[in-house]
Amino acid sequence: MPEQRERIIAANWKMNKTLHEGLALLVELNILLSNKPTQHTVVVAPPYIHLQSAVHAVADTGIKVAAQNCHQAPDGAYTGEISADMLQSVGAEYVILGHSERRQYFGETDELVAEKIKTATDNNLKVIYCCGESLEQREAGSHFELVKQQITTAVEGFQPNIIKDVVIAYEPVWAIGTGLTASPEQAQEMHAFIRETMAGIFGSEIADSTPILYGGSMKPANAAALLSQPDVDGGLIGGASLVAQDFFDIIHS
Ligand code: PGA
Repeated sequence: MPEQRERIIAANWKMNKTLHEGLALLVELNILLSNKPTQHTVVVAPPYIHLQSAVHAVADTGIKVAAQNCHQAPDGAYTGEISADMLQSVGAEYVILGHSERRQYFGETDELVAEKIKTATDNNLKVIYCCGESLEQREAGSHFELVKQQITTAVEGFQPNIIKDVVIAYEPVWAIGTGLTASPEQAQEMHAFIRETMAGIFGSEIADSTPILYGGSMKPANAAALLSQPDVDGGLIGGASLVAQDFFDIIHS
């Protein structure tokens, strides 16, 4: 792994935690990390409504704040939606896009997610772009093809100056919230494939510097083995990020 490749451990809270609970979690995490700091980039993605409070809670700690989604349009008559510009204005630095739950429950397609990536990066947000196959696709042996398609559709049209703000998260859908995890070998195999795909589109310099995170039931017990793979540059963690000590243990595994 090139020296310069950033390592990122990101927490995806999904639709969990009241404001009070979320802030308590951040206070606990701050204390743990101030006693034992990390070189890795730590990102937390609370629900929209807690973003501004989270930004205040982590001010001066080095922890970055992400949103879990944004709308593709810059602004307009989209009742109930949140724009990238709004996220930027409350201090969010990252946005997770293309999460499999957005694809599955809200019908998001690769084409839509490509639009969102454009709007997010236009508004100076870094993007954590999620891809990954379902169990049926893996069993049918079409997982490489599918992930290649997801990566290609989402990022192919962009210039390198946009791609430098994109982090990829490989999240096999069958491992998300199920307790099943990709084995370190399965993760490495797909991460290397994603890097190769990125190299095919943008060249090896960009491919080598793009962090590729693994997500799907990562927890303290399996994090070290996954994170020690040469092409696994971090994690996107759901369930285990809801407990400060567990998330901290993953950061330090
Ligand atoms: P999980 O979620 O860690 O609970 O499997 C990961 C994710 O969906 O980002």
